[in-house]
Amino acid sequence: MARILLGVTGGIAAYKACELVRLLVKAGHDVIPLVTPGAERFVRAETFTALARRPAGEDVYLHLTRADLLAVAPLTANTLARLAHGLADSVLTEAALAHRGPVVLAPAMNPRMWASPATQANAATLRARGAVLVGPAEGDTAEGEQGVGRMAEPAAIAEAIEAALRDRAPGALRGRTVLVTAGGTREPIDAVRYVGNRSSGRMGVALAAEARRRGATVTLVAANLAVPAPAGVTVVAAPTAADLARETLARAAATDIVLMAAAVADYRPVGARTDKRPKDVASWVVELEPTQDVLATIGEQRTDAQVIVGFAADHGDPGLERARAKRERKRCDLIVFNDVARADIGFDTPDNEVTVVGAAGDVAIPKGPKERVAAAILDEAERLLRERS
Ligand SMILES: Cc1cc2nc3c(=O)[nH]c(=O)nc-3n(C[C@H](O)[C@H](O)[C@H](O)COP(=O)(O)O)c2cc1C
Repeated sequence: MARILLGVTGGIAAYKACELVRLLVKAGHDVIPLVTPGAERFVRAETFTALARRPAGEDVYLHLTRADLLAVAPLTANTLARLAHGLADSVLTEAALAHRGPVVLAPAMNPRMWASPATQANAATLRARGAVLVGPAEGDTAEGEQGVGRMAEPAAIAEAIEAALRDRAPGALRGRTVLVTAGGTREPIDAVRYVGNRSSGRMGVALAAEARRRGATVTLVAANLAVPAPAGVTVVAAPTAADLARETLARAAATDIVLMAAAVADYRPVGARTDKRPKDVASWVVELEPTQDVLATIGEQRTDAQVIVGFAADHGDPGLERARAKRERKRCDLIVFNDVARADIGFDTPDNEVTVVGAAGDVAIPKGPKERVAAAILDEAERLLRERS
């Protein structure tokens, strides 16, 4: 998750910036729209605030110097010139001057304005300073002219933003492979009923997104996610414990960091019916049998160069003790302990608070959004990986 300042300036393409906000929010980013008065002639600032799920009337100045990336889409010839020359006459241009970090710009203008020597010189100045320019693309303009000047599509701008965020943390996990399991498995009783659990997959999805952001090649083995998978990761569907075992074990040996965040069923119904059991008045006794212990199998097959991270959902201090024993028994490097006795964290909530149990002791990660907790867990895993290579 990144904090993104999104400038919107006064071109017809301002309406397309709505879709860009939606894509960035969906990818888990914190978007702060900075809308120029010129852009407000096309789309009201409130539209962007609502799409970014930000409180109305928020003081954006608080965020200006704390952003991971600045994007401007659409970028008018006017604001492009102002950025090139360092003017500071709007919230957006002030923010641009104060910003330290990647800049992604999506110019949009009449083809003759884009081709003008002044605009081309300004664009060259910004490129030379490290700004990434996406587009403009060729096609029909709003005035019915043909040529290069159309704003790039929102999906292409979102992709350029993701790429710029990945490049921001060079070396962190670039060239590394990360496997994450997420969600909760469902074990069929018959053709329509199952035994499941309350895991939403949020924690695993946050881990996959963070590993991707750090440049890793990420595979997400997904068991019935209640939240969308992040962009840029390979998603492998694994609805049952058997599917998850098969898909994870097929990939784990070739992976640098394995994060087993999924809630995998410990038991599954014996002899699930392939049809639907009709409703009647008789009681129905379902016998459960143990499933394969995927984490223990990974522990048996692991190499010393790998970092294996297990998760333990348990109750209170005795649960923490059991997590410590589990780490040694299953040959994991780290166990992330979640106290499920608390209703405000853990299963199906946006926040978490965990203890990362390692050979060198425990690291308490304070309560916060799962995205922040994911970053802290990956910091620990990354540190171990560095020590081994
Ligand atoms: C209908 C209309 C469409 C416009 N479209 C664009 C455009 O696509 N690109 C551009 O550079 N300027 C465009 N302009 C001109 C800008 O709105 C104008 O230069 C304004 O000062 C930009 O202010 P800002 O960059 O602070 O948003 C358009 C103006 C009007 C009236």
